Amino acid sequence: MKSIGIIGTGNIGRAFATALARNNIRATLSNSRGPDSLSEVGAAIGPTIQAGSREEAAAKDIVFVAVSWSKLPAALSGLPDFAVRIVIDANNPIEGALFKPAELNGRLSTEVLTGLVPGARVVKAFN
Ligand SMILES: NC(=O)c1ccc[n+]([C@@H]2O[C@H](COP(=O)([O-])OP(=O)(O)OC[C@H]3O[C@@H](n4cnc5c(N)ncnc54)[C@H](OP(=O)(O)O)[C@@H]3O)[C@@H](O)[C@H]2O)c1
Repeated sequence: MKSIGIIGTGNIGRAFATALARNNIRATLSNSRGPDSLSEVGAAIGPTIQAGSREEAAAKDIVFVAVSWSKLPAALSGLPDFAVRIVIDANNPIEGALFKPAELNGRLSTEVLTGLVPGARVVKAFN
């Protein structure tokens, strides 16, 4: 089975991990604060879910990304080339509780995301 990493373990990342856990699928969670901040979260979701670093999650066969729009550049910066691996884009180009649309300058949000994950095959889903 392919390995799965999750970058962004908020509402959506946790929901995705919960669905995986229900089906006995392994996944690695990550956030901006490091694995120690997620060990209890992973354990609560299920035995197939573990906490890891952003780099560990990004190295999996399939990488699920669910991060606030303005934080995506930092969340995806400095990672190695994705080498044709799959990135699932669950993000919306809006900011927080205000639901203010982000300025995309005529681009699709997934085009912007694709520019942040060199070498990846990007699929838009779960939003
Ligand atoms: N909520 C919904 O109903 C919904 C539905 C569909 C799609 N979406 C989209 O999904 C995305 C996430 O939404 P959400 O509600 O799950 O957001 P959220 O609850 O605010 O969670 C955001 C996650 O991103 C992480 N993050 C922020 N900066 C990071 C970095 N530099 N490196 C790694 N992780 C980082 C945060 O980690 P820390 O806490 O450690 O900073 C947190 O785990 C958004 O683009 C949203 O529009 C949301």
